[in-house]
Amino acid sequence: MSKTALITGASKGIGKELAFLFAEKEHNLVLVARSAEALEKIKVEIEETCPVSVHTMVVDLCGASAAQAVFNEVKEKVGDIDYLVNNAGFGDYGAFSDTEWDCYERMIALNVTTLTHLTHLFVCDWRGRKPGRILNVSSTAAFQPGPMMAVYFATKSFVLHLSEALGEELKKDHITITALCPGPTSTHFGEVSKMSASQLVKNVPIADAKKVAALGYRAMMQGRAVVIHGAMNKLAPFAIRFLPRKWVTCLSAKIMRQ
Ligand SMILES: NC(=O)c1ccc[n+]([C@@H]2O[C@H](COP(=O)([O-])OP(=O)(O)OC[C@H]3O[C@@H](n4cnc5c(N)ncnc54)[C@H](OP(=O)(O)O)[C@@H]3O)[C@@H](O)[C@H]2O)c1
Repeated sequence: MSKTALITGASKGIGKELAFLFAEKEHNLVLVARSAEALEKIKVEIEETCPVSVHTMVVDLCGASAAQAVFNEVKEKVGDIDYLVNNAGFGDYGAFSDTEWDCYERMIALNVTTLTHLTHLFVCDWRGRKPGRILNVSSTAAFQPGPMMAVYFATKSFVLHLSEALGEELKKDHITITALCPGPTSTHFGEVSKMSASQLVKNVPIADAKKVAALGYRAMMQGRAVVIHGAMNKLAPFAIRFLPRKWVTCLSAKIMRQ
């Protein structure tokens, strides 16, 4: 019997690539984002090429009741979900005090609150009934503080720690949670977050979104706890374990500077 995956932030970037991967494996889809036209285009392309059905939902996931609204519509119009991919997210490069509060409020709402609420809704739905798998898109930003992107880095640490903790806690219910940690990847993220101003993206190779999505998909299906994309990206989280935290933050500040 075919299964169904819900993917947030599926209109572009890593989420869009994940949508095509799930469809190739003949999973039905629920695709969520704000861009109605982009979602409709993806739906048509997938339904023309793969034997699956695609339900799209145009929702701003920064809204306070967004997760509940998504869950209610899914239960009413689609039914059960087997895979939840919490991918939607954004960052903002710049000094903390130069950024409007509204931007941080929306970032925390999307990257943290809605992700956690959707996870809670589906875990409660699955427990003791039909276990599912969750893929939470974190980042290599999760492993250290990030001056000039302090709030974004902190939200991604939250996602990593939440995923690891829940993965352990929910083992007994056969629910798996995977945290995908990409480094800089070729998507709209660079433009949205203004990251192109930082040394980070000037000095490291930029990954292909398709490859990052494929790694996340495989890791989720294998029930792995954490997966980092790219050999260089794996090195830093390993190496910083042996350095004093103060040094790590100073080093991160140097890398993040304009
Ligand atoms: N690219 C990188 O370098 C990189 C590195 C590490 C981690 N990540 C993480 O990877 C994830 C995917 O990002 P990406 O790189 O694929 O960026 P992207 O190309 O900008 O895609 C972001 C997706 O999230 C959706 N989204 C943004 N705000 C939303 C909102 N308020 N409500 C609903 N959907 C929203 C966007 O759709 P709409 O605009 O249509 O709403 C889009 O589909 C994010 O969590 C990001 O933090 C990216």
